[in-house]
Amino acid sequence: MKNLTKTILFFGGFFCCISSYAQNDGVTLFKTNCSICHTVTNQKLVGPGLGNIHLKRSEDWFISFVKSSQTMIKNGDPDAVAIFEEYNKVIMPDQNLSDSQLKLILDYIIANSPEETSEVAEVTDTPIEEEEELVFTEKEVLTGQNLFVGKINFRNGGPTCNSCHNVKTDDVVTGGALAKDLTESYSLLSGAGMKAILGAPPFPAMRQAYDGKSLTDEEIHSLLAYLKTIEEQQYDQHPRDYGQRMLITGLLGAFLLMGIFPALWYRRKKRSVNQRIYDRQLGSSN
Ligand code: HEC
Ligand code: HEC
Repeated sequence: MKNLTKTILFFGGFFCCISSYAQNDGVTLFKTNCSICHTVTNQKLVGPGLGNIHLKRSEDWFISFVKSSQTMIKNGDPDAVAIFEEYNKVIMPDQNLSDSQLKLILDYIIANSPEETSEVAEVTDTPIEEEEELVFTEKEVLTGQNLFVGKINFRNGGPTCNSCHNVKTDDVVTGGALAKDLTESYSLLSGAGMKAILGAPPFPAMRQAYDGKSLTDEEIHSLLAYLKTIEEQQYDQHPRDYGQRMLITGLLGAFLLMGIFPALWYRRKKRSVNQRIYDRQLGSSN
């Protein structure tokens, strides 16, 4: 399993970089767009293994699903809903590919699927959970947090994660709402899945943000450490419930401002302008 993941990561990374020179063939299209999350066997990754998918789904279904799985799910297609539920509602990103490109991908999957035995499609998925659990040190967790919020810059200049993502914790300033909250992503995606995603983000907005600024292996490792810890600790936290702290800070702030303003504005007129005219007319020189 470990070796498989490595192989996939290797090819994922490799094809990702040469893709601009690559031909529009099925292998390349698959490796570039799908292999981060899918194998062509029965092996699960982030998504289900696609081996022999043609025995289970029609070509039309395949094309519609891959173009926009969420549209199909919203329209209540029973197979689409079922697989979405089965995969803990991890959203498969829409693939901006043409019908003919998707047919090439399907051909590639069919040609490379394992021989189907007579006990048809008895899914022998090896769940990812079997992988040994990654262990992280406290230092890695801290580095991960600092990277996530931008206290440490990424070596290759990528943007901080919390410019788009939030996590539920007391320790960090609230993050962005541009993308999904990552508090529970670690177990949804598994360590291996998340590692693959960070190595070569399959989501257009995120891919663009890290284009040419990819994260290093150590950075990814620290981020995994942090996101795993966040998920484990989320129930001890009281996110955004500032309660009394908020009230007290607010009052202190108000008093502080009340002190600062008169000091800055010490030359302001103490009495109204009319008062001076009035006084002058009375002949009193103040
Ligand atoms: C970021 C990860 C990710 C990427 C990239 C991705 N998928 Fe998926 N895919 C999923 C997940 C997760 C599911 C499970 C269904 C769900 O959660 O919506 C899925 C489900 C599917 C299914 C339905 C499988 C079934 O058993 O019915 C097909 C078909 C599929 N993907 C094809 C593709 C193809 C082809 C590509 C590349 C063009 C691709 N996917 C890219 C994550 C991904
Ligand atoms: C430019 C915005 C942007 C930045 C910066 C960004 N992401 Fe993302 N990320 C996205 C988008 C968009 C998605 C797709 C899911 C969604 O629509 O929210 C995503 C998805 C993910 C997912 C999959 C979540 C899931 O449960 O399916 C993970 C994990 C993730 N990002 C981690 C990170 C980490 C770690 C960083 C910092 C290194 C980061 N992202 C930086 C935009 C961003």
